[in-house]
Amino acid sequence: MTSDHWQAIKAIPKVSLNQMFEEDCDRVASLGLEHAGLYFDFSKTHLDESVVRAFQKQADEMGLSAKTEALLSGEPINISEGRAAEHCAERGTGNPASVENANALHQRMKSLIEVIDAGVLGEFTQIIHLGIGGSALGPKMLHQALKLGDEKYELAVVSNIDGAALEPVLERFDASKTLLVIASKTFTTAETLLNAQSVLDWMSEQGVADPLGQVIALTADPEQAVEWGVDETRILPFSETVGGRYSLWSSIGFSVALALGYEVFEDFLAGAAAMDQHFQDAPWDQNIPVLAAFADQYYSQVRGCETRAVFAYDERLGLVPDYLQQLEMESNGKSVTLDGEPLALHSSPIVWGGVGTDAQHAVFQLLHQGTHLVPVEFLAVIEPGDSLSPAHHNGLLLNCFAQGAALMAGKKSDDSDRNYPGDRPSVTILLEQLEARSLGSLLAFYEHRTFVNAVLLNINPFDQFGVELGKQMANKLAADDGNRLDASTEQLKMRAFGA
Ligand code: F6P
Repeated sequence: MTSDHWQAIKAIPKVSLNQMFEEDCDRVASLGLEHAGLYFDFSKTHLDESVVRAFQKQADEMGLSAKTEALLSGEPINISEGRAAEHCAERGTGNPASVENANALHQRMKSLIEVIDAGVLGEFTQIIHLGIGGSALGPKMLHQALKLGDEKYELAVVSNIDGAALEPVLERFDASKTLLVIASKTFTTAETLLNAQSVLDWMSEQGVADPLGQVIALTADPEQAVEWGVDETRILPFSETVGGRYSLWSSIGFSVALALGYEVFEDFLAGAAAMDQHFQDAPWDQNIPVLAAFADQYYSQVRGCETRAVFAYDERLGLVPDYLQQLEMESNGKSVTLDGEPLALHSSPIVWGGVGTDAQHAVFQLLHQGTHLVPVEFLAVIEPGDSLSPAHHNGLLLNCFAQGAALMAGKKSDDSDRNYPGDRPSVTILLEQLEARSLGSLLAFYEHRTFVNAVLLNINPFDQFGVELGKQMANKLAADDGNRLDASTEQLKMRAFGA
């Protein structure tokens, strides 16, 4: 806790959620916000007028307005790498030249999809999308959320270097009908390039005369892709200023746009644009990403919560927690401020989660009675994604709502084993329908919330130097050049590979 505002936020009397509801009959109306087909219920958090007002002062001190303006106008706010963070330009908000460039690259993507659909490059019905981190998590999640099952192309997203991830796909797929999409911002990522080489080898073994003729590359470094062997005409570039975990809006979305149709991708961008507009225009006390970040910071800094749990009460959204882990933890898992000083606050919470109702029968025990206070986020969709008896979807939603109610209300008992303390916070996000637009809005909400958290923490959410050391060590270990690592690691290596 540094500034006076943080001290003031900490000093606000801690009223229980039940009491807050008793004292304010308008709580649901004032803390339930709706935008672009999404409804956010913050009423089961400890946000109230005094907490929001105190955070507004802190946000003011941290220059949230100016920093938002800098983000949305393409200023070089990623200071450690000396560049802008222009994912919003992909959906129409930003430096005019960047928006124009993004539009042109989207058009190129659209044209290539038309060419592929017309069978000009071959008779493809299967797509292997290779990438990792931001080059895989978004496409995989988006495809799982929106696919109907009757699409022209079957899409498999493979990320892990573990051959057990790729092999079953190769066993199932027909090499002559497979389009290989290599997604890598840098085009240097070891996992992706090894997997790509294995797919090319498999194609050759299966009798494909020109495997590279079945490759599309998605990258911010086209020269690297050319050097690797990809034909320039089959490279879909995107801007270096679009961060990996923010890149789903760029050509990294190509495989999903091909599999689901370009118009779906356009709707996805439009949904995100609607949230960008809201983030830009809405006053802070009605601004959905800003309020969510206030709640995040309240639980991190004031209540000492080290984790936040996200449960998708919808199988289609089951990969959202994985996607959010990278977005939030890679962005805000930092321990120095923008000025290079040690961070005196807690950085990003550990984001975890799963799918409801499964998780209720596995981890919810801890949420209801454990000693950790875990803010929970419920994601649900009003319109069902199945055509079975309504009992399924009704049961799903009722369980979701009941969990939030139970966490908050608790239940006193003289029997300590059966006592539920309650006063455990949750946010519920309801989508009217799960379609490209609402999903675009939802993901843009998460991006802006992550940004506001970073502003409140005074950190840079757009670099990720923390992942580099492990990559260097892996290279060192592989090099076998006499430079030894620590004794424990060398011993593990010897056990696995021999002397
Ligand atoms: O190692 C982390 C990371 O750089 C992520 O930030 C990124 O999304 C992922 O690796 C993949 O990188 P690339 O798209 O360059 O292959």
